[in-house]
Parts: sequence; C-alpha cells; structure tokens
Amino acid sequence: MSGKLTGKIAIVTGAGQGLGRETARTLARHGARVAIAELILERAEDAAREIVDAGGEAIGIACDVAEEAEVEAMVARVVEAFGGVDILHNNAAILTPEHRAGDRDVCNVDLATFQRTMAVNAGGALLCSKHVIPHMLARGGGSLIHSSSGFGAQGDLTLTAYGMSKAAITLMSRSIAAQYGKQGVRSNTIQIGLVLGENAQHSVQGELRQIILDAHLTPELGHPRNIADVVAFLASDESAFITGATIPVDGGFSSHVPTVAPIREYFARVGANKF
Ligand SMILES: NC(=O)c1ccc[n+]([C@@H]2O[C@H](COP(=O)([O-])OP(=O)(O)OC[C@H]3O[C@@H](n4cnc5c(N)ncnc54)[C@H](O)[C@@H]3O)[C@@H](O)[C@H]2O)c1
Repeated sequence: MSGKLTGKIAIVTGAGQGLGRETARTLARHGARVAIAELILERAEDAAREIVDAGGEAIGIACDVAEEAEVEAMVARVVEAFGGVDILHNNAAILTPEHRAGDRDVCNVDLATFQRTMAVNAGGALLCSKHVIPHMLARGGGSLIHSSSGFGAQGDLTLTAYGMSKAAITLMSRSIAAQYGKQGVRSNTIQIGLVLGENAQHSVQGELRQIILDAHLTPELGHPRNIADVVAFLASDESAFITGATIPVDGGFSSHVPTVAPIREYFARVGANKF
C-alpha cells in the first residue's frame, strides 16, 4: 500500500479494538508499517492479521504500557522488525466497566483504581514516549499523537481519575513538543468527543447517549474513522507546522457555552430563536 505515510513506521498502543484499531488500519492504508502494542495478545494478533490480509504490513505485540520493561521490549521488537519508529500514537487507556465503577466523583474514587488509571493512561503514554523518542531523534524526527478527552479539559460529574490522567497527557505532549521540537519531533494531542467504538457502543446508551449527542454540534456522534483520519494527518508531513497543539476532534463538544442544548430545545418549543 502506498500513500502519505509510505516508508513510515508507526506504533499504535491499545490498537486491539476501538479507535486504536481503526487508526492502525488507516495508517496502514496510507502506507505505514504498523505495530499494534496491546494488552491482550489475541486482540493484537487479530488486528495485525486483518491489516496483513488487506495487503498492509503489521505486527501485533502484547504489551502492558504501564510496565516499563514491557514497553522497552515492545519498542526493541518494533525496531528489530521494521528498523525504527517515526510515529507513536498513545491511544491505550483502561476503560473496562469494572475499572470505571471505581472512578466516580472525588469522594468516591477508589485509590487503587486511581493509581492504575494514572499508571496506564498517563504513565503508559510517558513510558512509550520515553522509549520511542530516542529512535525518532536517531532518524531526524517523528510525530507523536496522544489521545485525550473532554474529561481531561473540563470539570465533569464522574470519571475523575480518568480526567486527571487525560489532563496529564495534554501537558506531557506540550513538554515533548518544547523539549525535542528543534530536533524534528512533533507532539500533538487530540481531545476526543464521544466516538462510538465497541466500548462506547455498550457503555453509553439510551437517554445518556441522547444528552451527550445534544451537546455535540454535529448531527451524529463520532465514528472511529473520524479519529483515525486526524491521527493520519498529524502523523504525516501535511501537518509539518503543527506541534504542541491540542486539537478538539469532538464535533464541537468543547466549543460552546453550556446552555446551547437547553436553549436549542427552548427555541424549538417557543418557535423563535431570539431572546
Ligand atoms: N470512545 C470515545 O468516545 C473516546 C472519547 C474520548 C477519548 N477516548 C480515548 O480514545 C482512546 C481509545 O478509546 P476506545 O473507546 O477505543 O477504548 P477501548 O476500551 O475500546 O480500547 C482501548 C484498548 O486499549 C487496550 N489497553 C487497555 N489497557 C492497556 C494497557 N495497560 N496496555 C496496552 N493496552 C491497553 C485495551 O485492551 C483496548 O483494546 C482512549 O485513550 C480513550 O480514552 C475515547
């Protein structure tokens, strides 16, 4: 496959399902050789096989991004297989229902849940960046893309630890941009709205999904491809002058005053759009 990422080598963490898996497919379609670094080995292998079957190049590697030795070994394996690393997409996050149950409002955050959240979401992104950046520097540059969320930017009612971990990623991304920019390394964060991958399809349903949709400005919630396309853009030279940025890819969720949805409903009810 050839395209704007031909010759590039990419690592996508947590790419066994959901947004990461779609991103891995998309990067491969644009010509990148892709390593899927994923906690669950079968998922990693399955995602890699799918890319290979479609004519791309990919390997699946089991890796817990919270464990430094596993991250080091994963990066070494990618370098051995493909010859280096140009692109790192820090996508992995711990989002299982059991885990989320311990991550609520501040007074009801379980400490072990908080620590694992920070270790995987923020610590994993740090460890992968730490072990990939030297390889990027050796090749004269690279692009890192980190997945954040509205929870990491604005106060919300629940998922406190998750939000804290995503805020940390945003800051880490700016630090990487400042520290290695002159050596050709770019680092950007995408702040993602609600995207219906496998996980959100199950966890956000019914009335809750409608409330969240009402706060997005687009007719529909996000599709994993909407994220994958932006990651491919940020990974490619098309975005050569973008670094240290936090880019909302959220259907306008974070762009407006909090009253938009209720006032939209009010205007519809009274049949006029003026105060
Ligand atoms: N889906 C959304 O609406 C949404 C919104 C905002 C941000 N995001 C972010 O986008 C990313 C992907 O979300 P998703 O909905 O596809 O999630 P998902 O739960 O479907 O996929 C996450 C993947 O990460 C893997 N993973 C978990 N812990 C890991 C670890 N320690 N090491 C390696 N891999 C690990 C899981 O096995 C899974 O395959 C996450 O960073 C998430 O916070 C998603």
